[in-house]
Amino acid sequence: MKFFIDTADVAEIRDLAATGLVDGVTTNPSLIAKTGRDFFEVLGEICGLVDGPVSAEVAATDAETIVAEGRALAAVAPNVVVKTPLTPDGLKACRTLTEEGTPVNVTLCFSAAQALLAAKAGAAYISPFIGRLDDIGADGMQLVHDITELYGAQPEIETQVLVASVRHTMHVVDAAKMGADVATLPPKVLRGMFDHPLTDKGLEAFLADWRKTGQSILSGTAKGRAAE
Ligand code: G3P
Repeated sequence: MKFFIDTADVAEIRDLAATGLVDGVTTNPSLIAKTGRDFFEVLGEICGLVDGPVSAEVAATDAETIVAEGRALAAVAPNVVVKTPLTPDGLKACRTLTEEGTPVNVTLCFSAAQALLAAKAGAAYISPFIGRLDDIGADGMQLVHDITELYGAQPEIETQVLVASVRHTMHVVDAAKMGADVATLPPKVLRGMFDHPLTDKGLEAFLADWRKTGQSILSGTAKGRAAE
């Protein structure tokens, strides 16, 4: 499973990209607004920080303007993926941009039927929003299950399932078990995946015991080499 990070915060992206665990980035208009910065400037910087796909979302709602905005965003860098909304116009624009060679991430997916339409429109990615479904008392993970099952039953579908609106570690683990291709994680969720109290406790005990030996691995290596 690939991990994208769901943020437009350049410092966060730089920091997390250095872990070697980040395969791409997703943004949306709310995340761009949060930075208070110029969209094209931020997008250019993000595209320079990661080799993988960087999703940038259009703000238009009619197909013609979505295509024009998509072309402008795609011109920023070769790794830009244009995000279009799951509407009739969004899917019409998805078809056009895809035929021009620009990959499209169809966003705001809340049903398996919508995911089927996005695949037919040639989307490179479909983004089911699982946290927002959970928020209204529905079952976000059930949607991921339905889409992975549906896409798996239709061998001609090449659209990747990009699990979005991820709120916690178990969303990621469950999506991976279901065979989702990508999860886009808020930085806090990616950082949280490292955490386990027994890891902290175990490491503390190992280090305390090691200190008692009075040894140093690096100087020990040097001594060993000198003795050879
Ligand atoms: O970027 C799309 C999606 O991940 C947004 O998530 O947390 O605003 O529901 P959220």
